[in-house]
Amino acid sequence: MTLRRVNVVILVLLAVAFLIIVQRNLLNFSDFLHSEHPDAGAVLPFESELSPDLRLELVRKGEEIPVLITAAEERLGAVVAAMNSIYQNSKANVVFTIVTLNDTVDHLKMWLSRTKLKNIKYKIVIFKTELLDGKITKDPQSFETAKPLTFARFYLPAYIPEAEKAIYLDDDIIVQGDIQELYETNLKPGHAAAFSDDCDSASAKGIIRGAGNQNNYIGFLDFKKEAIKKLGMRANTCSFNPGVILANLTEWKNQNITRQLEQWMELNTLEDLYSKTLAESIITPPLLIVFYKRHSTIDPMWHVRHLGATGAGKRYSPQFIKAAKLLHWNGHYKPWGRTSSFSDVWDKWFIPDPTGKFNPVRRHAGDN
Ligand SMILES: *[C@@H]1O[C@H](CO)[C@@H](O)[C@H](O)[C@H]1NC(C)=O
Ligand SMILES: *[C@@H]1O[C@H](CO)[C@@H](O)[C@H](O)[C@H]1NC(C)=O
Ligand SMILES: *[C@@H]1O[C@H](CO)[C@@H](O)[C@H](O)[C@H]1NC(C)=O
Ligand SMILES: *[C@@H]1O[C@H](CO)[C@@H](O)[C@H](O)[C@H]1NC(C)=O
Repeated sequence: MTLRRVNVVILVLLAVAFLIIVQRNLLNFSDFLHSEHPDAGAVLPFESELSPDLRLELVRKGEEIPVLITAAEERLGAVVAAMNSIYQNSKANVVFTIVTLNDTVDHLKMWLSRTKLKNIKYKIVIFKTELLDGKITKDPQSFETAKPLTFARFYLPAYIPEAEKAIYLDDDIIVQGDIQELYETNLKPGHAAAFSDDCDSASAKGIIRGAGNQNNYIGFLDFKKEAIKKLGMRANTCSFNPGVILANLTEWKNQNITRQLEQWMELNTLEDLYSKTLAESIITPPLLIVFYKRHSTIDPMWHVRHLGATGAGKRYSPQFIKAAKLLHWNGHYKPWGRTSSFSDVWDKWFIPDPTGKFNPVRRHAGDN
């Protein structure tokens, strides 16, 4: 008799517990249904769609951290790994703006929606290559003619008009720290951007000498040209690497930074202002001019670079690489290629392409 009563009590308790759990879940679910997701997954300039199976799991709240990144078809695995590393290493409300070309949109959307990246917030914008007409020489051999997306960073406020502060990242990076920390870096009053300087960074030690002097202004600009001389800049000033940018978009707009950059690009097509030994991209020289002594600095550990250079594997210890907040494989040897250093670090964040089109080249991949 007492035993049966105990059983009944237990049953009732279990039922109550069950109901509480169900109700909590239902409440949460209706919260979810009623909450708004203004920017989540908005796709421009096409449809603004929310897949029905999305976002049941977690909706990140709080201040939005806008991150601009580009997606080039032939290295789409890069942007996917970069975004995954940023997202997994932070609880912040990161909102990606992915700048790409028309032909890549479908592939990119498939990769994002069919993998564990389906919960991230992003919008896709198409880069209008006409923007570059008259600003770069249309040399079919030229590296940049083929890579118009590298100029997207010049147009930051146009892509993220609503934000005051934003981050730009190259696609050949992996973030190991909490992106919120980078975002909270202070910009000095009157500065439109912060970069990591080439001389005082941990990455600068033992910089590749053979590739020209790429850690000061003379490595990027032709100081014999009148237009450069007139600026009165010191040729031995440290350059900076624009693969990681933290920007104050209000200042950027106030100072017409985009227009200034465009004007230097236009002038360069006429007067050839960039250094003859320019080893890296033609993105850097206009930025060096416009931000000469007018930029803030980013913590060197937030931009550990030259991982794509020859001998990078010898320059950095595994402990240092582990401690770095952001790794950048600038240089020839990309981590999805055959002979890169530290590609094992990159592999941890890579998500295989559901369409099978992109595959990292790996030595032990089976096919010799
Ligand atoms: C429901 O929401 C509450 C409070 O927001 C939270 O503590 C709980 O973990 C949520 N339950 C589920 C199943 O998400
Ligand atoms: C890409 O551009 C072409 C020509 O401009 C257009 O016909 C096509 O619809 C575009 N594709 C997408 C996915 O927008
Ligand atoms: C950005 O610049 C504007 C204008 O100078 C300034 O008022 C604002 O405080 C700056 N914001 C940040 C986050 O640095
Ligand atoms: C920026 O451009 C606007 C409109 O072209 C102009 O009125 C303003 O003076 C410019 N500001 C600077 C700092 O050059």
